[in-house]
Amino acid sequence: MRHKVEVPSTGHSWDGIMEYDNPLPRWWLWSFYATVVWAVGYVIAYPAIPLLNHATTGVIGTTYRGEVAADIQRFAEANAPIQAKLVQTPLDQISADPELANYTANAGSAIFRTWCAQCHGSGAGGNAGYPTLLDNDWLWGGTIDDIHTTIQHGIRDPKDADTRFSEMPKFGTDGLLDNAQIGQVVNYVLQLGGRPHDATLAAEGKQVFADNCTACHGENGTGDRAQGAPNLTDAVWLYGSDPATLTRIVHDGPYGVMPAWAGRLSEADIRAVASYVHSLGGGE
Ligand code: HEC
Ligand code: HEC
Repeated sequence: MRHKVEVPSTGHSWDGIMEYDNPLPRWWLWSFYATVVWAVGYVIAYPAIPLLNHATTGVIGTTYRGEVAADIQRFAEANAPIQAKLVQTPLDQISADPELANYTANAGSAIFRTWCAQCHGSGAGGNAGYPTLLDNDWLWGGTIDDIHTTIQHGIRDPKDADTRFSEMPKFGTDGLLDNAQIGQVVNYVLQLGGRPHDATLAAEGKQVFADNCTACHGENGTGDRAQGAPNLTDAVWLYGSDPATLTRIVHDGPYGVMPAWAGRLSEADIRAVASYVHSLGGGE
């Protein structure tokens, strides 16, 4: 038979149900006291109680923000000499200096993955509307100077007074061409690019092209870098080479925007990422 202990009652009673005054288990009680002591000690020693824009500092002076800031400071100081050298070296001589080439390959790739990959793709292969940076087909030029200027000032960025700028007209939206003419010129562009097309419409489109498009895309449709107008005769398409996409581009105008980075990235970072892009394979 189990031994019965007479436990006193607390005297509380609900609907005739009594509450026993059992003691808490020892191990539980002591663990509980230990956590209370630990918590008081922690609050005194470490940053603990949040205030408006920082927390109580704690007597041993740890601040996690401070540790991060110190780490950043340490890296900035470690990189300062090479970044100073990078900013002083003429752009076209960066890749010839092994130390700078090594630094820009690493730093440039990290900057690219942070700031550029969301539009140009993590491998810089581009997306519809966002050019690949791997080939030697450049809208605005592929020398290190061209690339540096593009990154510094962006393309059609309204916030940068020196941005690269040109604007293809909205031929349909603004009523410059009717739908029949757009159909004709789209077929001519398909023909230029060696894509399947309607030969009769393309023949009519040749004149529409000569009247409306050659000022930017050139007599033969090979493009003009001074205006960022793409070559329409190669296999590289910024937006796509299907008739629906071409019709939309001619009807609505493309107006691709690339943000300017001067002011957001340091000159050393802009040079690092420019060198990285230049080294990707298509640099001139
Ligand atoms: C918000 C999207 C976006 C981001 C972010 C972006 N770009 Fe671009 N970039 C574009 C677009 C769109 C174009 C093409 C603009 C046009 O139609 O001329 C472009 C064009 C370029 C060109 C010119 C390519 C050529 O053929 O001449 C270079 C070089 C370039 N980007 C580099 C970068 C680098 C380096 C970064 C990161 C620091 C970056 N871009 C970030 C959208 C972006
Ligand atoms: C004022 C200069 C200008 C004129 C005129 C012009 N374009 Fe463009 N076109 C551009 C520019 C600049 C781009 C790239 C713009 C961008 O990315 O925003 C472009 C892009 C295109 C593209 C996209 C190419 C690709 O690789 O995806 C097509 C197609 C095109 N133009 C066709 C035409 C046709 C057809 C006409 C005449 C009816 C014409 N353009 C007239 C400047 C012009």
